Amino acid sequence: MKRKVSVIGAGFVGTMTAQRIVEKNLADVVLIDIVEGLPQGKALDIMQSAPIEGFVSRITGSNDFADAAHSDIAVFTAGFPRTPGMSRDELALKNGGIVQSVVKEIARHAPDCIIIMVTNPLDVMTHLAWRTSGFPARRVMGMGGVLDTARYRAFLAEELDVPASDIEAIVLGSHGDTMVPANIHTTSKGIPVSQLMEKEKLDSIIERTKKGGAEIVGLLKSGSAWHAPSSSAVAMVEAILNDSKRLLPASAYLTGQYNIEDIYIGVPVKLGGAGIEEIREIALSDEELKGLRQSAEAVRETLKKI
Ligand code: APR
Repeated sequence: MKRKVSVIGAGFVGTMTAQRIVEKNLADVVLIDIVEGLPQGKALDIMQSAPIEGFVSRITGSNDFADAAHSDIAVFTAGFPRTPGMSRDELALKNGGIVQSVVKEIARHAPDCIIIMVTNPLDVMTHLAWRTSGFPARRVMGMGGVLDTARYRAFLAEELDVPASDIEAIVLGSHGDTMVPANIHTTSKGIPVSQLMEKEKLDSIIERTKKGGAEIVGLLKSGSAWHAPSSSAVAMVEAILNDSKRLLPASAYLTGQYNIEDIYIGVPVKLGGAGIEEIREIALSDEELKGLRQSAEAVRETLKKI
């Protein structure tokens, strides 16, 4: 059976996500955007790389949400990226309207799909998507933790001069400034990184990771990151399509776990064919737990403003 993924938004993140999915032969892709010709042109360009890259997955572009029908997964990247100096609250107001109108369409045309939100501010948009879709919470999740964790692992690997794949970490909390790295679970080949570097160095890497998105926004001057965000979204797509039950951090709806309820926030989840199959409660220090709860309250506050 051919699998199908809709990628909503044919901008930087959406296009790269679509490209990575077909290049890995994970599924056929339909790239959907409101701008006429944009998704069609980009899909055609990617399709023409198939003979060279050697993939068999099909890719098409469309301006019609009805073409999302029968999707196994919809990756949602439509919306504005953050500009320098823009707060996540300001972004929430701009992207909230888009998310609500488009998720309604996706839920109508692909009522059985799993939604992966990428549009920022991530946890707020994911909560909004869940509310709008009427889907069970296990089928609506946000891509934030995989990206924060990847940034953290990349910086740690650079500092320790080891391959990034040797670093294991889990970052919880809201995507961005209020993220919470679970430090007893941060290791280089099983050795806690706290034993491998000075506390000041580790703290400065955590600070840099928290501002990882803003650092790139500042350098680019217009637009935000798309290479690592698309890799992160595709890691989630792959875990779901392959029913691999990987433990990944994702924005998930909490119902009392970590003493937090009725809000989407980044936590470790088991990702498989049914979506979020389990929310894992891992050991955290008191300070980390406090950080996670503060992070959840920040999401709740932003959500109230939409
Ligand atoms: N329906 C479909 N597509 C839409 C809609 C809509 N209602 N509104 C906007 N779009 C499309 C735009 O036409 C554009 O092509 O969303 C795309 C967004 O692309 P970019 O501006 O290139 O933004 P990008 O860098 O891809 O980021 C998208 O992902 O990581 C997050 O913070 C980032 O929220 C931002 C999102």
